[in-house]
Amino acid sequence: MSDPNDLRAFLKEAWQHLGRGVTDSRSPARYPTFATTDSNGTPQARTVALRGASQSGATVEVHTDTQTDKIASLRQTPLAALHIWLPKADLQIRLTAEVEILTGDAVEDAWAKVPEGSRVSYGTEPAPGTPIDHVYAYEKPSKRSRFAVLVCHLTHMDLVHLGERHRRAVFTKDDGWQGSWVAP
Ligand SMILES: Cc1cc2nc3c(=O)[nH]c(=O)nc-3n(C[C@H](O)[C@H](O)[C@H](O)COP(=O)(O)O)c2cc1C
Repeated sequence: MSDPNDLRAFLKEAWQHLGRGVTDSRSPARYPTFATTDSNGTPQARTVALRGASQSGATVEVHTDTQTDKIASLRQTPLAALHIWLPKADLQIRLTAEVEILTGDAVEDAWAKVPEGSRVSYGTEPAPGTPIDHVYAYEKPSKRSRFAVLVCHLTHMDLVHLGERHRRAVFTKDDGWQGSWVAP
């Protein structure tokens, strides 16, 4: 049994789950909830797919279409919160991040790795969220120019483990990800 008081191990476990989310589409970490603040100050949450996770860089990555509302929100307020619940591990992961929007030449390599069949997620006409006259009155061409990578530079992680005794810790960029226990 590992030491429950080991902050470093707790953080490592969370990053292992994030890494699994990137590589394993059956992992619950594959589909975080991604929340932004819109121009009215209203929180907006939606499901996304986790496309990258790096503990050393303290980043996670998400792909999106430049014409989605989340991009408009992020251009105004470049902050996001991500949430993941891992039922088997009894672990909740909450992340706060400063979001960098990459497009154009900066996403060439990432675009090259997007499977042909998935490229239609980037380019819906009319743009996502536009009112339409019929349920299927839209097209899904793939448009390289509409592909964006959201690099989420983490500033804060909050982990809650529902064990026999609950554990909660916060880790911040400012404290060099050392972390500290808080009451759950
Ligand atoms: C399982 C699932 C995975 C999704 N993955 C993504 C994704 O990786 N990127 C994305 O922009 N939208 C993704 N979506 C769609 C979003 O949830 C959302 O409907 C869309 O991006 C428009 O959101 P917005 O108008 O708030 O920007 C996914 C939806 C589901 C149900």
